[in-house]
Amino acid sequence: MANNDSQMVITCLYCHKQYRVDRAKLQSTVRKAHCKACGATFPLPLEDESASRQPEARSEATPAGKRTPRRLAISLNKVGMGKTSTAVTLAAGLAAAGFKVLLVDADPHGQAAPYLGVKPPGGLAEAINGTVPPDKAMVQARENLWLLAGGKALAGLECFAAGRATQSVQIVDRTLAPLEKEFAYVLVDTSPEWDPLTVSVLFYVRELLIPVSMEVMSVQGFGEFLQLVDPIDKLVDGRRLKYILPTFYDPRVKKAVDIHEKFVHVYGDLVCAPIYYSGQLKEYTAGGKTVFDLGTDSKCLQDYEALVKKVVNDT
Ligand SMILES: Nc1ncnc2c1ncn2[C@@H]1O[C@H](COP(=O)(O)OP(=O)(O)O)[C@@H](O)[C@H]1O
Ligand SMILES: [Mg+2]
Repeated sequence: MANNDSQMVITCLYCHKQYRVDRAKLQSTVRKAHCKACGATFPLPLEDESASRQPEARSEATPAGKRTPRRLAISLNKVGMGKTSTAVTLAAGLAAAGFKVLLVDADPHGQAAPYLGVKPPGGLAEAINGTVPPDKAMVQARENLWLLAGGKALAGLECFAAGRATQSVQIVDRTLAPLEKEFAYVLVDTSPEWDPLTVSVLFYVRELLIPVSMEVMSVQGFGEFLQLVDPIDKLVDGRRLKYILPTFYDPRVKKAVDIHEKFVHVYGDLVCAPIYYSGQLKEYTAGGKTVFDLGTDSKCLQDYEALVKKVVNDT
């Protein structure tokens, strides 16, 4: 978005109003901006090697003053791909960068809460079936980070019972609509099942992050998943595949390197820098901590910091 060396355009992350700013007048200590249109305070784009390439304006422009968060699902209908670890760590990283984030766990396994080390009494199921108001169903898990937890109750929801699938596609949208305007990001972690709840999530989000381990079986699952998602993409205005995240990457494994190269060849910029296999990450999630809580420098912190930067700077 830079027009020349000194001019830059800053886009409000909530209402998408754009401001032209003289970069030279912006003090290096300034980290946040205040939007006069909608009143939101939001962090300025994070610096990285591509900082001179400011983010483009959003394609899904909304009228200034109307807050809409970025809605992003972390999804692939395969277990053990690093979906929940990525949803939790990306949410924690965005929150640590100053964004207000709602993490929604749409998986009956409900792993997001233990990965964050919290024990909410209810969550998305209660918000959907109306037994708890949505704003009471979420819990604050960290500074700037709220969780609408998953869990077994999601598996038995009446509204997703057989025969009701056609009415159920709007349910996630209707449940989250009263909550989302307070947030800059809504991240939704999905289950590995292709079921009405996952479909409803995919109708709600406008962006998709697909974590995929660099193994032959995972790649097959990835291809099948794209075929399932494609008809929804055609129905949902403005959504497009945005991020493919290689996970459990090990550069010592030739097959993994080959698959990664093919992904980059076929999908280009959609492929994020890989998340390397990390025993530390496994330990952190098992202990209810994220790499952003501990602050100690590590490869997995660097990997997820790079993902946070990519997501933030790519509007
Ligand atoms: N980059 C990684 N390196 C090592 N272990 C990981 C990594 N990412 C996730 N894990 C571990 O793999 C397991 C499955 O990850 P999870 O995020 O729950 O996958 P999914 O949600 O796709 O089923 C968890 O035990 C998690 O700690
Ligand atoms: Mg999971």
